[in-house]
Amino acid sequence: MVRRTARDYATRVLAPRAAARDVDNTFPAEELRELGGLGLLGVAVPEKLGGSEAGAVAYSLAMQEIAAGDASVAVAVSVTNMVAELIARVGSEAQQRAHVPRLVSGEYVCGAFALSEPQAGSDPGAMTTTAKRSGGGGWVLRGTKQWITSGDRAGLLGVWAVTNPEAGQRSISAFLVPGNAPGLGVSRAEHKMGLHGSTTVQLVLDDVEVGEDALLGGEGEGFKLAMIALSGGRIGIASQAVGIARGALEAATRYALERTQFGKPIVEHQAIGNMLADAATWLDAATLLTLRAAWLKEQGRSYTQAGSMAKLFATEHACKICDIAIQVHGGYGYTRDFPVERAYRDVRVTRIYEGTSEIQRIVIARELIKAHAARAA
Ligand code: CAA
Repeated sequence: MVRRTARDYATRVLAPRAAARDVDNTFPAEELRELGGLGLLGVAVPEKLGGSEAGAVAYSLAMQEIAAGDASVAVAVSVTNMVAELIARVGSEAQQRAHVPRLVSGEYVCGAFALSEPQAGSDPGAMTTTAKRSGGGGWVLRGTKQWITSGDRAGLLGVWAVTNPEAGQRSISAFLVPGNAPGLGVSRAEHKMGLHGSTTVQLVLDDVEVGEDALLGGEGEGFKLAMIALSGGRIGIASQAVGIARGALEAATRYALERTQFGKPIVEHQAIGNMLADAATWLDAATLLTLRAAWLKEQGRSYTQAGSMAKLFATEHACKICDIAIQVHGGYGYTRDFPVERAYRDVRVTRIYEGTSEIQRIVIARELIKAHAARAA
C-alpha cells in the first residue's frame, strides 16, 4: 500500500514536474507537505508520533518510487525520515512529542542533518563546532556546517557539536535546533551538478542559544547517534539510487524499442541488448541488497554491514546504469530533451553523500573483521 501510494504520487505529481524543477531550481515545499499528508515523511516512525509505522522495507520501496519520479525530492524526504526516526528512537518523550509529529506531517517542511563541516566530511570526529553551557542552563552553539541538505528550509535541524574538547569523539553531542533560531544563518548555497530541486547550504552558527531540552541523547553520545542514523540513512540513499536507475533503465528500454537503425529497432542489435541486460542484472542485485538491508533493520537485526553493502553496490551500479541509459540514447541522451541526462547528473552524488563509497568499504571491512574475530573467539 505504501509503495502504491508513493508510486501514484510520484507518477502523477513528481515526474511531470521534474524536468522543470531541474531547470528552475524550485524547492518542493508544497510537495513535501503533501508527502507528509500521505505518511511518507515518517514511514518507519511509530503511529503514536504521527508516523506510518510501516517499517524499513516499506520505507525503501517508497524511496525508490519517489526517486524514480524526482530524485531531488527524494533526498529531502530521506533526510526528514532519518531525523524523525532518530528522535523517535533516542529522544526524550518531550522531544518526541514536540518535534516528530511536526516533522512527519510536513509542518516543519522537512528536517536537516548538520554533521559535516568544511574540514570534517568523511571524518566527522574532526568537527570543530562547539556547544558551551550558557548562563541560563542551556547551550550556545558556534561553528560552521557544510553540505547541509535542506539546511535553509528545514523547520528542525539535528546539529552536532563538541561539548568537551578534551574527550575526542566522545565529546560530540547532538542538538535539536529550530530552523529559525537566532544566530543560525546560511553563508553559502552550493551550485550543484544535479539534484537542483534540493538545496545544499553552508550554515553558520553564530552563538545560537538553545535550551537544555535541545540536547538529543546524552552528553558525549552524539557521534554514536550520528552513526546509528547514518546506518539507516544509507539504506535510504541506496533506495534512492535504485529508484533513479530504474527510471533510467525504463527510459533506455523504451527508447531502444522505438529507435530504428540499420532497418530494425536498436534493441534487436546485440550490443544494445547486452548493455540493457547488464543494467537489468545490476539493478536487480542492487534492489535485492537494499531490501535485504531494510528487512534486517525491520527485524531488529544487525544491519550496518548490509546497509553499507547496499549503498556501495546500488550507488556505484546506478551510476553505471545511468551511463548505459545515455549510451543507448546516443546523442539524444546528451541533451535535456530526454530524462536520462538529468538522471546521470542526479545519481552521481549518491556515491558521495551519507558516506562515500570509500567510507562504505571501510565500514564493510571493519564488520568483516569483527565477525571473523567473533567466530575465532
Ligand atoms: N552504530 C552504532 N555505533 C557505531 C556505528 C554504528 N553504525 N559505527 C560506529 N559506532 C560507534 C563505535 O562503536 C564507536 O563507539 P565506542 O567508542 O564506544 O567503541 C564510535 O562510534 C566511534 O566509531 P569508530 O571508531 O568506528 O569511528 P571512526 O572515526 O573510525 O569513523 C566511520 C568511522 C565509519 C569512518 C565514520 O567516521 C563515518 O561514517 N564517516 C562518514 C561520515 C558520513 O557518512 N557523513 C555523511 C554526512 S550526512 C549527509 O550526507 C546527509 C545529507 O545531507 C544527505
